[in-house]
Amino acid sequence: MRRSKVLLVIGLRSGGTLDEVWNRTMRLTRGGREVRMPRAVIIGSGSEIAPTRVTNDQMARIIDTSDEWIRTRSGVEARHFATPDIATSDLGAAAARRALDSAGVDKDEVDLVVFATMTPDHFFPGCGTLLQDKLGMPPVPCFDVRQQCSGFLYGLQLADAHIRAGMARTVLLVGAEVHIGFMPWTRENYAYALGESDVPPTKEEWEWNSRFRHLVVLFGDAGSAVVLRASEEGERGVIDHDLHGAGADFDKLCVPGTGFKHRPYIDAEQLARGDHIPVMDGRFVFKMATTHMAAVAKTVLERNGIAPEQLKMVLMHQANKRINEYCQKTLGLPDEKVPHNIHKYGNTTAATIPLLWDECTRDGRITPGDLVLMVAFGAGMTWGASLVRA
Ligand code: COA
Repeated sequence: MRRSKVLLVIGLRSGGTLDEVWNRTMRLTRGGREVRMPRAVIIGSGSEIAPTRVTNDQMARIIDTSDEWIRTRSGVEARHFATPDIATSDLGAAAARRALDSAGVDKDEVDLVVFATMTPDHFFPGCGTLLQDKLGMPPVPCFDVRQQCSGFLYGLQLADAHIRAGMARTVLLVGAEVHIGFMPWTRENYAYALGESDVPPTKEEWEWNSRFRHLVVLFGDAGSAVVLRASEEGERGVIDHDLHGAGADFDKLCVPGTGFKHRPYIDAEQLARGDHIPVMDGRFVFKMATTHMAAVAKTVLERNGIAPEQLKMVLMHQANKRINEYCQKTLGLPDEKVPHNIHKYGNTTAATIPLLWDECTRDGRITPGDLVLMVAFGAGMTWGASLVRA
């Protein structure tokens, strides 16, 4: 008979890497052999980019901006937007199908769904169960994560914790966004930007669109997904995380209206004021992001005894290329270790990091066994880093 025995349970001290916490809180033996805590290995990934590519020059037809300003201040050259028939759960489902294919995993093998997005199809329910239905999966637990640009890393920690605890063996983790619903312009303005109409914005429409110019030029629509599977053997898998959340400055990056602190939660006055469109203090967010992303990256590396040179890649959230260049410099990393895709897609919020993972694993920049650090900062404020052996 196979018997498990708890050798040691302390569980009072905190801190240290996840492996250290496990070792000092719970060690199991089975048939005299020590049982290792399962690791969550990323065994497949897939992405879906929204179909309509919009260049900076096209944006400048309906907003007071320029390709030069957007490119030099943010690194964005173009973004893709969803057509009206595509919602966040659709991009997520398309990405998830590709991820399952690449992992060689059947949808019926997934025993947990985690869906990160700040642009869900509905106020409720979240996108997790919509994805479950679109993929025709059994009624497994479905979590919705809403930590904005840090959403993927929060989701990764949740998926990893379920696998380490033995509560799930195969997890589908999705990050997807359709930001175009936030965009202030009219349908007619958008048609003009795309060259599908000859009617330019009125002076009032131009001014209204331009009020949000520092924000709307940054975002794009995409979905990306990974499949994680429990492994008790080898060194591959998620190694450690360090996540943070602090709400004191939430109003520096938030949607001020359309929430349940308002009665009713949405009305015509909020729409007229533009309270359904995010507000952002760009300089403040920039400073917070550079400070916290560099610090959290260092924390995770130091406590795992990893030098930056040992990393194959550092996948940074794609909010602004200058933020990432600052972190790259602070960590002393060469260009080839810090991939970007912000120039092609803009900021795709919860999808940026899995998109980078998907691109780098497909083209061979990341191969099994490579050490990869993921780092993000987002609204909330939230930030974190995860260390993974591919
Ligand atoms: N086109 C042209 N000019 C613009 C513009 C645009 N799209 N957006 C802002 N400007 C103007 C401003 O009005 C300002 O003009 P002024 O000097 O005449 O007042 C000038 O450019 C500088 O604005 P500022 O906001 O100081 O620019 P910046 O260098 O800080 O860059 C951001 C702005 C938004 C690109 C940058 O602050 C940023 O990326 N912040 C972080 C955003 C982020 O990470 N968001 C997602 C969170 S995860």
